[in-house]
Amino acid sequence: MCKHEAQQGPMSSPETSASFVMICVTIWFIMCLLCPSPLRAQLGTTPNIKHIVVGRCYNYVTLVNPGLRFDCEEIWRQFEAAVVRQSSCNVTVEDYHHMFYAMPQTWPCDRFLFWSKTRTLMQSYAAVLRHFWTLEDTLVGYMFNDLVWCGQDKDSGFDFSSCPKWSACRNHPVYSLWRQASQNFAEMACGNITVLLNGSIVNAFNRKSMFGSVELDSLNPCRVDYVNIKVVTNLEGPFIESCGEGSILDLIQILQSRGFRWTCTDNDQTLMILQCIQNHKPSSCHSCANSFSQRKSVTFS
Ligand SMILES: *[C@@H]1O[C@H](CO)[C@@H](O)[C@H](O)[C@H]1NC(C)=O
Ligand SMILES: *[C@@H]1O[C@H](CO)[C@@H](O)[C@H](O)[C@H]1NC(C)=O
Ligand SMILES: *[C@@H]1O[C@H](CO)[C@@H](O)[C@H](O)[C@H]1NC(C)=O
Repeated sequence: MCKHEAQQGPMSSPETSASFVMICVTIWFIMCLLCPSPLRAQLGTTPNIKHIVVGRCYNYVTLVNPGLRFDCEEIWRQFEAAVVRQSSCNVTVEDYHHMFYAMPQTWPCDRFLFWSKTRTLMQSYAAVLRHFWTLEDTLVGYMFNDLVWCGQDKDSGFDFSSCPKWSACRNHPVYSLWRQASQNFAEMACGNITVLLNGSIVNAFNRKSMFGSVELDSLNPCRVDYVNIKVVTNLEGPFIESCGEGSILDLIQILQSRGFRWTCTDNDQTLMILQCIQNHKPSSCHSCANSFSQRKSVTFS
């Protein structure tokens, strides 16, 4: 579409067209970086994985979080050893322990953001309120975000042609790494933490999700002051769950039984505005404005 306009447009000097096409390609490229790619799980190990992982590691310790003294080559060696030493469906969280020992990290309190089924919104929320840290901001999250990997037969390297689905393995190499990373992240959590849940789906709080199965159980009530739950629905619905109905009540029940203090907010104003910005349809922003006046909040200590 971009190309078509560049050819037909009134300003068609070669330089202008060329730079216009360049801008379009760049925008398209950025959009593709942001859009999820469900097919990738069926493919093999991400090509050039070593360069990507080691490069991201150097980027992180040099530019994103300077001052960290991690040995990126050593982290890669431990990662590779964990993955290729086992068959492709048999990499446990224990296999990654040496890698995690090579990259210990702690975070300041009050900044932990957890999420489930709200990935796109979480990314813009964390980008706007730079105060928050998510798993993707830790070194391990940063290095392995969006990558796929698996070994072949024992000791014969990565399999670049195909990897099993998560559901096909008891100990999937990608799942095991994220499981351990999520557990470490939740164990470190302290002060006020925020949990972003999707009120437009059934089971916004799902015991089988990474949050419900790993992170929640790893939170320490002695370190965490408040669990601040934010339930956010799509602007145009469906409006399925909220602080007062559905699986969120189960979450609150679990938090209470474990001695956490909590708050729960439906349709947080900042989150609604972020959605309005992303979805320019006037009707959405109209319903957005309306929902501000209906905003509810519950606090419990
Ligand atoms: C999986 O790994 C464990 C130890 O890491 C080993 O004892 C077991 O035989 C392996 N199973 C398969 C099917 O490779
Ligand atoms: C809620 O989940 C649905 C289905 O996965 C998704 O399309 C939607 O963007 C999510 N909503 C929010 C606010 O994250
Ligand atoms: C923690 O959350 C509670 C409840 O929302 C709030 O009253 C308190 O001010 C928060 N503390 C910090 C340090 O943000």
